[in-house]
Amino acid sequence: MISANDFIPSKYTHSVESGFFQWSAPSNIALVKYWGKKDNQIPANPSVSFTLNNCKTITKLAFAKKNISTALNVTANNFSFDLLFEGQPKEDFKPKIQKFLERIEIYLPFLKDYHFTIDTENTFPHSSGIASSASGMAALAMNLMSLEKALNPEMTEDYFYQKASLLARLGSGSACRSVKGQVVVWGNHANISESSDLFGVEFPRAIHANFTNFQDTILLVDKGEKQVSSTLGHDLMHNHPFAERRFAQAHENLNQLIAIFESGNLDEFIKIVESEALTLHAMMMTSMPYFILMKPNTLEIINAIWKFRNETKIPVCFTLDAGANVHVLYPENVSEKVLQFIQNELVGYCQNGQYICDKIGNGAVLI
Ligand code: PMV
Repeated sequence: MISANDFIPSKYTHSVESGFFQWSAPSNIALVKYWGKKDNQIPANPSVSFTLNNCKTITKLAFAKKNISTALNVTANNFSFDLLFEGQPKEDFKPKIQKFLERIEIYLPFLKDYHFTIDTENTFPHSSGIASSASGMAALAMNLMSLEKALNPEMTEDYFYQKASLLARLGSGSACRSVKGQVVVWGNHANISESSDLFGVEFPRAIHANFTNFQDTILLVDKGEKQVSSTLGHDLMHNHPFAERRFAQAHENLNQLIAIFESGNLDEFIKIVESEALTLHAMMMTSMPYFILMKPNTLEIINAIWKFRNETKIPVCFTLDAGANVHVLYPENVSEKVLQFIQNELVGYCQNGQYICDKIGNGAVLI
């Protein structure tokens, strides 16, 4: 079994003075939710997600060896980086990056040798409830791995992607599912031998054509800052009265999804996905302190989807993240009808009528 120590490099064969890389990494939407973690961002239960295509972060990482960049006024024993968001310095993002670099330094011992300029932008609104930490941490991890590959060109592709996912995980758990593949599993599961708590893996079996180009239309119900940070949310699962049962349920639901991905049974898919979304929120409603992250319009949308599905038999369903926005999931062949329904009946529940059309995608890309 692969252990975290396998990702601690012994020595590098090459040296690199300066340069830059640029990667884009997508957001992802969990079908079986990760909620609750152990030390070191080890998940309390396995999760599985669809990788998105349009909602992404694009990050350019420029690097210069400190000894040749005396003009940069850097201290040898500290991380040295500038952070730009949409081209402007963004001081309030820096503590998160600092913490990330501290956590991953053991895996990338060259980090303090360089001054970095991290220039990042999203294709979707920041703090819209769309996981910008997932795409952001994944994009940064990919760039850092490109630099490590330049220092050690022998590295295999498997190592590159596994380690990129491991690093992303240390930035934000769900980010490890934004690296590679359309359907990504993270966390040990008895029936997926490749699965790991350390990094996300591409779902290792064939997936039924019903899921090809699966659509995700994200309805922006409330674009405000998150009421509960995911760090606090995960913490609430410690001493939660239903935690152990919930963790066991996630294993069972992932097991059922394995069969559903093969059979293409959309009715069964809908049951698992909607139940997972409501369970995630139920965990928050039954923790101490307790939270309601849905808004009245979230419930209006859910009820409208159920009514539409009942009346039309079109296999459309919803899922939720730790917020009020609704992800509407449906197969490509019913897109036209579902988009019509969204425009006619759901847009009125969105803040400023805003929604984002996305679909299943392939993961991070070097630009
Ligand atoms: O990656 P984090 O720590 O922000 O946690 C995200 C958790 C959920 O989005 C609610 C569920 C998931 O599996 O993505």
